[in-house]
Amino acid sequence: MTLDAQAPTTTPEVAGMGHSMKRKEDPRFIRGQGEYIEDVVLPNMVWMDIVRTPYAHARIKSIDASEALAMPGVLAVITGKDLEAAGLHWMPTLAGDKQMVLPVDEVMYQSQEVAGVIAETRYQAADAVAAVYVDYEPLPVVVDPFKALEPDAPVLRPDRGPDKQHNRIWHWESGDRAATDAALAASDRVVPIDVYIPRIHVASIETCGCIADYDPVNAHLDFHVTSQAPHVYRTVISLVSGIPESSIRVKTHDIGGGFGGKVPVYPGYVISIVASLTLGRPVKWIEDRSENLQADSFARDYHIHAEMGLTDDGAITGLRVKTLADHGYTDAAADPSKYPAGLFNVITGSYDMPQAFVEVDAAYTNKPPGGVAYRCSFRVTEAVHTIERLVDEGARAVAMDPAAFRMKNFIRKDQFPYKTPTGWEYDSGDYHTALQKALDMIGYDELRKEQAEKRARGELMGIGISSFTEIVGAGPSHEFDIIGLKMFDSAEIRVHPTGSAIVRLGVQSQGQGHETTFAQIVAEELGIPASKVKVEEGDTDTAPYGLGTYASRSTPTAGAATAIAARKIREKTRHLAAHLLECSPDDLEWTPGQWNVKGSPDRFKTIAELAFAAYTDHPAGMEAGLEATDYYDPPNLTFPFGSYICVVDIDKGTGQVKVRRFVAIDDCGNIINPMIVDGQIHGGLTMGLAPALYEEISYDEQGNNLAGTFMDYLLPTAMETPAWETGKTITPSPHHPFGAKGVGESATVGAPPAIANAVVDALAHLGVTNVDIPITPQKVWRILHEKGVA
Ligand code: CDP
Repeated sequence: MTLDAQAPTTTPEVAGMGHSMKRKEDPRFIRGQGEYIEDVVLPNMVWMDIVRTPYAHARIKSIDASEALAMPGVLAVITGKDLEAAGLHWMPTLAGDKQMVLPVDEVMYQSQEVAGVIAETRYQAADAVAAVYVDYEPLPVVVDPFKALEPDAPVLRPDRGPDKQHNRIWHWESGDRAATDAALAASDRVVPIDVYIPRIHVASIETCGCIADYDPVNAHLDFHVTSQAPHVYRTVISLVSGIPESSIRVKTHDIGGGFGGKVPVYPGYVISIVASLTLGRPVKWIEDRSENLQADSFARDYHIHAEMGLTDDGAITGLRVKTLADHGYTDAAADPSKYPAGLFNVITGSYDMPQAFVEVDAAYTNKPPGGVAYRCSFRVTEAVHTIERLVDEGARAVAMDPAAFRMKNFIRKDQFPYKTPTGWEYDSGDYHTALQKALDMIGYDELRKEQAEKRARGELMGIGISSFTEIVGAGPSHEFDIIGLKMFDSAEIRVHPTGSAIVRLGVQSQGQGHETTFAQIVAEELGIPASKVKVEEGDTDTAPYGLGTYASRSTPTAGAATAIAARKIREKTRHLAAHLLECSPDDLEWTPGQWNVKGSPDRFKTIAELAFAAYTDHPAGMEAGLEATDYYDPPNLTFPFGSYICVVDIDKGTGQVKVRRFVAIDDCGNIINPMIVDGQIHGGLTMGLAPALYEEISYDEQGNNLAGTFMDYLLPTAMETPAWETGKTITPSPHHPFGAKGVGESATVGAPPAIANAVVDALAHLGVTNVDIPITPQKVWRILHEKGVA
């Protein structure tokens, strides 16, 4: 299908799937009535602020907190030595490594936590931070991951075992090395590319924060936190602290953006908990913007060398990829255990590729933890960028148009389900239709003519394509776990006697609109109007266990659980209806919102009548009530895709890249709410524009963060954002209960290579084969200058 949305089967009042229902959460957001962690004030609450190191690598000779402790309102200063006494100075990371809560001997990156200061007010805590004196002895700093792997590099993590006294964290590979080497050796030509995907930061509007509230009388911890994965947090807190999970309640509030940055457990959380345990009072900690940009977990930082084999007539024969990943001083990514480089081996992309081999080495450096999946399914962004850049260079090598090259090498619609050479089974796709739709929408042939005319006049215009395949919905439990927890997700639905309902979920919205779309799933399945379905997430005391929201997994996992739980309820109402209508359940058929006696249109019971009967008139032998729970273990991931085309003009005088047009055709299978999906794509495209042209966290040789404020880390605003032109195709997932695939990160994944390809396309006639992102005016100007054009 090439429709923009499937036809709804429910009325606008019921607002099941396919209705652009307005977001139920927005009335409180647009009135400033949201409740973020900063809004939560508990009786008797105190504040924590953190002492951080200016050095990227140094020995702590001493910490003198006496002056700080004497200051007004200061209640405690917690150091690594205090935690060491309780064995809490290190904690496990979700990737199976260890991370310091507070250092005892050495600091490992600039802005690392050194001590927690607790005071009656935020200002008193901040003043006292400046009065904690730490004596450091600077140590050699390793910022380059290639140098980190050299034999004489200082060993950054001597705490690891005797066989691991080096800076290589792990080596991972996927695919058939020998078969790929043979395929490339037999190719008419091999096209190489070197790509660096720099470190970036999610920079959510709301920084990370928490309130640890330990009640010593009842030995109970309430932990309010900005977490994308509250249940996992509760388990980790229990494992680290020894407090039983039944005595811990993790509670989220509204969350102002997560994008992967609110999955890791940060040292500040643990220090707050220790402080609350010590003082018996609620302790609030919220990062300021600089702390957030300097010390949280970061994304990307992949150095990639890739080679593609080709026949002279432009058929891809194989792909070989070698990568070095900079993880900072600890591997604190939240990748599934079996996939230390995330789902990077989806790098064969949308192409029918006979052979592929991918290897990744990860290195420690004196930087904050890296590897966060920034609006990305565990490294798919890095993979898509590489393959989409390489495909353009492949097309150029055989003198084919990049659209025609893609059309020739795409996996065909009739090849699905398609097994990739690195082991994934793509569920469904129709790549030719999506690209054709994008080409038609943007007027590709006309643009190529315009480009030729402009090039003849010496003007720089480029057209870039990105035809990405995504991989979302982690994941099937036989393959996917985080610290051993299988990556299912869950939903519990209760229908009340008067026909309204509540859904509780194991996932956690950070702005994606779950309160609306999950209500619409229930509306679709049961006919209860979405306006009467309350959606609740983020309270571990009430919600069923789930692994949380990241990597666009909510719809593929908890969305599926919601539909199946609703179907369990629907099945029970069939028996209730049979009882009320005095017929056999087999004589009933479901039409949206009611059970009808087959062939007797006037004999039916509505869902509202059946909900009432569940509490007032259920038959003997049937349990009262109307509720169901489902823990959904997906049989496979879902593979959304899209084709994006970008047109850029480059100013020869300044090197400034202007995105003139950007067409995005997306396919996420069946759509719950078209307006929300469009919103996800619009936001995602701007978050793809950001690293393509503006954002980078880089470090100098001493490990100083060169982009630790918004003066240096350039977030695009409405001024920089072009008018996105969006469209859809719909190719349902064959294994998802209602044919949906995830969509939240598609545009962030797909957009950067379209922009980079457009820039390289504008400069290719000068002999340029790659420009690494972010493509800043300075970088472009330097190239133009070198080529004698600027
Ligand atoms: O896990 P996350 O919520 O970030 O990503 P998602 O499952 O891709 O969903 C993002 C938003 O788009 C949610 O509100 C979904 O319910 C909605 N969505 C939709 O309406 N239709 C789809 N096929 C996929 C997502």
